Amino acid sequence: MSAPIVEAKGLKRVYEVKRGLFKEPGRLQAVGGVSFSVEPGKTLAVVGESGCGKSTLARMVTLIEKPTEGSLTLDGVDAVNPPSNRKTDLRRMVQLVFQNPYGSLNPRKKVGTILEEPLAINTDLSSSERTERARAMMAKVGLRPEYYNRYPHMFSGGQRQRIAIARALMLSPKLVVADEPVSALDVSIQAQVLNLLQDLQSEMGLAYLFISHDLGVVRHIAHDVLVMYLGHAVEQGPKERIYARPLHPYTQALLSSTPGISGVKRKRIVLKGELPSPLNPPKGCVFSTRCPYVTERCKVERPQPRLLDGRYVACHYAENFLKETAA
Ligand SMILES: Nc1ncnc2c1ncn2[C@@H]1O[C@H](COP(=O)(O)OP(=O)(O)O)[C@@H](O)[C@H]1O
Ligand SMILES: [Mg+2]
Repeated sequence: MSAPIVEAKGLKRVYEVKRGLFKEPGRLQAVGGVSFSVEPGKTLAVVGESGCGKSTLARMVTLIEKPTEGSLTLDGVDAVNPPSNRKTDLRRMVQLVFQNPYGSLNPRKKVGTILEEPLAINTDLSSSERTERARAMMAKVGLRPEYYNRYPHMFSGGQRQRIAIARALMLSPKLVVADEPVSALDVSIQAQVLNLLQDLQSEMGLAYLFISHDLGVVRHIAHDVLVMYLGHAVEQGPKERIYARPLHPYTQALLSSTPGISGVKRKRIVLKGELPSPLNPPKGCVFSTRCPYVTERCKVERPQPRLLDGRYVACHYAENFLKETAA
């Protein structure tokens, strides 16, 4: 085991939201105390429905937003209140790749310029050195040399995401946070981009925080999985454990609605109702309003994550599911 590149403990993010002229502002807890770490060469997949706090988590880890509470270190350096002489290092250490390769690339700039820009801003490399590095990176991510002088709109979604990945890697980050990086792409193209990310990871020893709403997408790329619901980690641990035997009813529901995942016998669980508003979350278990197994206890007592069968799970009745699947 090597030292983690990123280590988060109890990360929390609260937004104050206005609720009309005469009402007190609401407290919206987008992320409610999440802990994880990722080692070099490893991928942590963060999975959950839209609105569960994934992008907020991504913004905290990429230093765009400060956590309201909790600690975050990048390569051992405090990233919440960084020492002033390490701020630049920290910003280079972690890079973000967005879902939308259409929106995140400047349409007025050529591919070469887009890739060289981070070097021009952050390093004192000469113009010819920058060009050399941009061309080398293009080759690495599978972009043809003649694309150097083209504009983003001349490319398909998959190629644009290659450009965005190349740009993220120009400053040799140690951690890449990818927020739904393939969700806007056709399924056939998704696999190509996922393969590229895996190749780059083994070549460069990158750590990934890979965000997706889809357990099917992260199945091959993830080493560990963190399942989020309404800002909380409901189940978290090694991928093999979680896919083979999900112990939280929410993970079970997500997996049962993911096509093409076979494993132990699994009931189809259809989630009823909407995700509750994070402005007014359920008092007990966050999942209690939609859980098919809910009891009175779940409505009043919030289960804390505990270690069971090699992963953390926050459900009062997780042992029952363990027994059921072992039988
Ligand atoms: N800047 C903000 N101000 C207020 N609420 C926000 C802000 N950003 C996100 N939220 C809210 O926080 C919750 C989590 O959002 P987000 O992190 O974008 O979820 P996801 O990426 O999983 O869809 C949502 O309820 C969203 O409306
Ligand atoms: Mg999001």
